[in-house]
Amino acid sequence: MRAVDIIIKKRDRGELSSDEINFFVHGFTKGEILDYQVSAWAMAVLLNGMSDRETTDLTMAMVHSGETLDLSGVVPIAVDKHSTGGVGDKTTLVVEPIVAGCGLAVGKMSGRGLGFSGGTLDKMESIPGYRTNLTREEFLTQLKSLGLVLTGQTSDLAPADGKLYALRDVTGTVQSIPLIASSVMSKKIAAGAQAIVLDVKVGLGAFMQTLAEARQLSRLMVAIGSLSGRKVVALLSDMNQPLGNAVGNALEVIEAIQTLHGKGPADFTEHCLTVASHMLVLGKKAEDLQSGRLMAEASLASGRAWQTFRNLVIAQGGDVNYVDHPELLPSAPLVEIVGAPLAGHICGINAREIGETAVELGAGRARKNDAIDHAVGVVIHRKVGDFVPAGEKLFTLYANRQDRLDAAKSRILGAYQWSQTSCPPLPLFYDVIK
Ligand code: URA
Repeated sequence: MRAVDIIIKKRDRGELSSDEINFFVHGFTKGEILDYQVSAWAMAVLLNGMSDRETTDLTMAMVHSGETLDLSGVVPIAVDKHSTGGVGDKTTLVVEPIVAGCGLAVGKMSGRGLGFSGGTLDKMESIPGYRTNLTREEFLTQLKSLGLVLTGQTSDLAPADGKLYALRDVTGTVQSIPLIASSVMSKKIAAGAQAIVLDVKVGLGAFMQTLAEARQLSRLMVAIGSLSGRKVVALLSDMNQPLGNAVGNALEVIEAIQTLHGKGPADFTEHCLTVASHMLVLGKKAEDLQSGRLMAEASLASGRAWQTFRNLVIAQGGDVNYVDHPELLPSAPLVEIVGAPLAGHICGINAREIGETAVELGAGRARKNDAIDHAVGVVIHRKVGDFVPAGEKLFTLYANRQDRLDAAKSRILGAYQWSQTSCPPLPLFYDVIK
């Protein structure tokens, strides 16, 4: 078999056999099929698509490109969650302690920010000392002892996805349903959780811009999960405006801590309780969503979720003083509160613009190895559906350079859509796919 023939077959809209997909993924992982060939193949997949059978084969080939974890001997059942990426999405930091606080084990390997969408590892690394590079043994030991792990993906886990993702990021081939489905599901299957809740973001600040695309992606991921014996539910959630208020690493950790203390933004708290309820049902802790919801609320209200988050920080080497006193977390030298330029109703806050502005402020990376500034970002004070009098607090910017602050201010003001008549608030969720 030759890589070039597989590329030509996909270029010409052919359906690849299982053997061809295995050969290609194996060769790529070993470095025998080169980056430029894989890039050409990824573009052919983006343009011509894949059948569900091909996508499932691709997923399983990526799962078997490295080691897989079997958690069944470690805890009775482990649940995981995965977001397809959004702006202000600090859900993991709150949901996982809520669920683990209910006695259901959560083992999660997260990623870094990519483009305009933030990453959980970058957020957690705002806490000095917090380790995101646990070994396989440390992962399993902590899952057993604490029932909660939040770390980075080990390099041995689905390595083909790591390599392919890095290429897709720089070749304009991220936005492909079969490539996203196989990327997400290969990592989740290899990481060993038996039950997985997928938070599929839809809208301006998401990879999936329409509900139809998001449904198609969700159905595919649920089907791939069940073929490999996993229980998977996909929640389609809004990403037209940022989730919660804070966008930027330390700012999001602060908002997550406030939420764990019951003082977070209402939309974000509601989002977390919904995701947690689904995880509790899928992990068989709760019989139905209503009882899952009550359990999640009790975990939050009793302080158990907060204690579990604290224990997680301690277990992974973080300085707990910083979460007990979040004012100690990295803070930006320049802070400016920006008022509403006019009186009006907010009809839109373009999440993508906000995410890209946060990257320009230094919260994200333009290139893979860029350093980030954990302190910078933006806090939105009013959301879609709100009426705001002229001059009233609209957002606060946190920056490390005056020129960046000035540029961010005009870009964010331009991200707001105003109306003189009322606009409905955006829904949090659109659909559930099982
Ligand atoms: N998240 C992933 O893990 N992979 C993708 O391809 C897109 C979002």
